[in-house]
Amino acid sequence: MGPPGVGKGTQAARLKSLLGVPHVSTGDILRASMKEKSALGNEVRGFVESGRLVPDGLMGDLIAERLQRDDATAGFILDGFPRTLEQVATLDRVLGRLGRPLDKVLMLTAPESEIVRRLAGRRTCPSCGAVYHLDSKPPAAAGICDACGAALIQRPDDTEAVIRERLRVYHAQTVPVAEAYRTKGILAEVDGTGDLDAVARRLASGLGRAA
Ligand code: AP5
Repeated sequence: MGPPGVGKGTQAARLKSLLGVPHVSTGDILRASMKEKSALGNEVRGFVESGRLVPDGLMGDLIAERLQRDDATAGFILDGFPRTLEQVATLDRVLGRLGRPLDKVLMLTAPESEIVRRLAGRRTCPSCGAVYHLDSKPPAAAGICDACGAALIQRPDDTEAVIRERLRVYHAQTVPVAEAYRTKGILAEVDGTGDLDAVARRLASGLGRAA
C-alpha cells in the first residue's frame, strides 16, 4: 500500500517475478473493465476518473472472486486493496474462508512533492499496461510502448485536480488502514524514494528476501 503514485504498481510488477505469484492490482482490474465497457466498467468509471473510491460492496465482490482463482493458490501480491477499514474486514473474511493469512503489509512512503512529480510525468500503455515516466523511466522511442509498440497515454486521473482529490481520499480513508495493520503488527514502512532498484531491494528485504 501507499499513496497514489508512490510506485506500488511499478514495484509489484518486479516483486511478482521475484516471488512467482500474481500481481493483483484493483486499479488495473477496474481500468480493464472500463476499457472493455463491461457492466462493472460502466458502473465504476465516474468514481475512478474523479479520484473517488469505488463502493466497498463492489470491491469486496471483485476481490473475493479474484483471490479464489487457481493462480492465487500459492499466494498473491495485493496492490491497491484494502483501501478502507470496511475492505480490511472483507479481506479478513475472504482470507479466513480460504485459510490463508496475510503475511505482511508493505507501505511505500515518499514526500508529496515527489508523488506529484511522479504522477505528472507518468505515461501508461493502454494496450499492455506497462508504466513509464518521462524522466525516470522513459520509453526507448518517445510516446511508444517498448513492450508492444502502442501509443502511450496519460491516465485521465493524473490531472492536477484529480491527483489532489486522490491524495485527499488517501489521507481520509486509507491512512486508517495502515494504522489498523500497524496495530496488528504486520505493517512495515518502506522508503519509496531513490531509484527503482534501491526501492526494490528495500521491499525484498522487508519480505526477508534478496532482490
Ligand atoms: P490505482 O490504480 O490503484 O491508483 P493509485 O493507488 O492512485 O496508485 P497509482 O496507480 O496512481 O500509482 P502507483 O503507486 O501504482 O505508482 P506507479 O508504480 O504507477 O487506483 C485507481 C483508482 O481506482 C482509485 O483512485 C479508485 O477510484 C479505484 N480503486 C482502486 N482500488 C480501489 C479500492 N480498493 N477501493 C475503491 N476504489 C479503488 O508509479 C507512478 C510513476 O512514478 C510512474 O511513472 C513510475 O514510472 C514512477 N516511479 C515509480 N517508482 C519510481 C522511483 N523509485 N523513482 C522515480 N520514479 C518512479
